[in-house]
Amino acid sequence: MDSKKVIQKIYAKIEEIPTLSPFLQKIVGLVESSRTDAQDLTAVIYNDPSLTSKMLKAANSAYYGFSKEIDNLDRAVALLGFNMIRSLAMSVGLIHIFPKGKAGHFSRERLWIHSLAVATAMKEMGMKCGREEDSESLFVAGLLHDIGKVVLDQFFTEDYQQALEEAGCLESSTVCEAEINRFGMDHGGVGSILLKRWNFPELICNLVAMDHKTDVPEGVNPVDIAMLHVADILAKETGMGVSESIAPSEIRQADLETLGMTSGQIDELRVHLFEAKEGIYSFFSTVN
Ligand SMILES: [Fe+2]
Ligand SMILES: [Fe+2]
Repeated sequence: MDSKKVIQKIYAKIEEIPTLSPFLQKIVGLVESSRTDAQDLTAVIYNDPSLTSKMLKAANSAYYGFSKEIDNLDRAVALLGFNMIRSLAMSVGLIHIFPKGKAGHFSRERLWIHSLAVATAMKEMGMKCGREEDSESLFVAGLLHDIGKVVLDQFFTEDYQQALEEAGCLESSTVCEAEINRFGMDHGGVGSILLKRWNFPELICNLVAMDHKTDVPEGVNPVDIAMLHVADILAKETGMGVSESIAPSEIRQADLETLGMTSGQIDELRVHLFEAKEGIYSFFSTVN
């Protein structure tokens, strides 16, 4: 099939993916909103008892490290703040959207662990690079940066298996090449089409599209892209969600320069991520 036809097929398949639940639509819609929506947000969450209980379990996981139990949503909002509650709600809701994958090359669990590690590193980098206000959006971009892999695996299972075999494994540096050969675009492109359909804010859609690209299009902050590249490598270095056989690539000097970060600051991030490891696994087990 020529690549134009494959791309049309990808769009058609993405059309088949259900739109987000009213709850998640509301949360995504609140992404650009101000704190005044906190009450609105908790009211929506309370309407979904299973989500509320999962969120409370996650809020009590080692990821956040609170010593006292958080037993209700209002207390969780007071402790975590509106932005963090919003990204927690999104994490809990989104991890469940795609049914569990089949055994084989692709482990959804591994991918989500990797994505949570990237999200954690992105958020921390946002704080360190003067992007505190966007740090939760950066977390969400990290969480969703590889969602295109799930789409390809879900709808093009056999072709995707072959692409992964060709690349060696899911995290291989040649996976994008193998995807482009078969599908005419890589998982970043596929993921951003899905997120646009789900009305995610531009910052998140653009970043996901740029996951493995180095040329910076207009309207995209090069700092955000550099953060995603570095976060992905740091997450792989910790071994979270990757197979043993994969040696992470080196952090690009150009990305460090764009970020204006020293190697000492990158070491601090490494330590942060290693320390967050247990929390990330415990967070995932509570929401899964
Ligand atoms: Fe990726
Ligand atoms: Fe990744």
